Amino acid sequence: MKKILLTGGTGYIGSHVCIELLNKGYEVIIIDNLSNSSIKVLDCIKKITGIKPIFYDKDIRDKAALLKIFNKYSIDIVIHFAGLKSLTESINEPVNYYDNNITGTISLLAIMTQVNCHSIVFSSSATVYGKAKHIPIRENSPLSASSPYGQSKLFIERLLQDLYTSDDKWNIAILRYFNPAGAHESGLIGESPNGIPNNLFPYVAKVANGSHKRLLIFGNDYDTHDGTGVRDYIHVVDLAKGHLKALENIGTFKKVLVLNLGTGQGYSVLDIVKAFEAASKQKIPYEIVERREGDVSECYADPSLAFELLNWKAEFNLSQICNDAWNWENKSSKDYDI
Ligand code: NAD
Ligand code: WQD
Repeated sequence: MKKILLTGGTGYIGSHVCIELLNKGYEVIIIDNLSNSSIKVLDCIKKITGIKPIFYDKDIRDKAALLKIFNKYSIDIVIHFAGLKSLTESINEPVNYYDNNITGTISLLAIMTQVNCHSIVFSSSATVYGKAKHIPIRENSPLSASSPYGQSKLFIERLLQDLYTSDDKWNIAILRYFNPAGAHESGLIGESPNGIPNNLFPYVAKVANGSHKRLLIFGNDYDTHDGTGVRDYIHVVDLAKGHLKALENIGTFKKVLVLNLGTGQGYSVLDIVKAFEAASKQKIPYEIVERREGDVSECYADPSLAFELLNWKAEFNLSQICNDAWNWENKSSKDYDI
């Protein structure tokens, strides 16, 4: 069975992909520097799948470490999750973000080239669409970035395109995630951001469990059905399954595969509050405050290309996302505080 290297594999999305891969019989090797994840994830993966993935506590900028790992395992395909991901933090720490995300990716690609491993799936983001004119967003929508984080994703996408142009034996898939949410149904793994969460779902979960008093809703004067921002929330397990489809089909398209992974359905902040109240049976107090700088009114995917090319589409609905997020919040989230 193929050997898959997951950079950033103990993180939120990587750990869910790891489970799907192990369940399908792939051999998984993880490299993660644990800057935004906990080593405890490995035991939880073992509880769920019966297998503990091979793990290296290494930074992807450490080329010597990468080389040793590639030489030891003859990796078939890399799924590259490792990176820093907070848009706001990236505005305050541009050097750190560019170094981690771009230098890290260059280091990885240099070693892959050296060892003749030419297959990579890259975690990109809907943030590369900036303020899209046409919603739902298709993959050929114009690209732009309003933050160092978004710029780093755009740069890496471009680098991957250039790499393919230089040598078409590369097999490359770029997956643009919309808003990943929810958790594994076991409640053993999920999203565990450091400190006060920036993103809506982890914040709402903390309000529902009483650790934060109220949700601050950033604006209710957008041009949406209730005035609050609309996004495309995709269950992290659906997202994980999309990676397996990309892996299974990598190399069949004779071009860099660029795909949206979203549901195609937009929900407002107030829709999320309502759905989470129903899942948690808790009241979620909120206050409407100013718009958050840089936010767009609505952002949701046209996911039809992923269906056409990979026969993949999201299966979980909003209520399942909320149930699983709430289950995780109650069962395990606090055990993961880094
Ligand atoms: P995460 O922070 O939970 O996981 C990323 C992992 O990478 C962490 O475990 C971290 O410790 C590790 N890491 C960071 N820099 C590293 C380095 N230099 N060397 C080794 N390990 C390193 O984030 P996530 O939500 O799982 O996101 C995974 C990828 O998907 C990221 O590239 C992110 O930009 C992208 N993405 C995430 C979202 C989202 O909302 N979660 C949306 C779109 C795209
Ligand atoms: C969702 C909605 C907020 C928090 C970000 C990144 C994107 C991708 C996913 C990485 C918006 C509102 C939020 C709160 C609120 N990540 N909100 N109160 O901004 O769509 O996307 O995460 O690639 O690149 O930009 O996600 O969860 O922060 O916000 O009212 O406390 O919830 O205004 O409408 P966003 P989010």
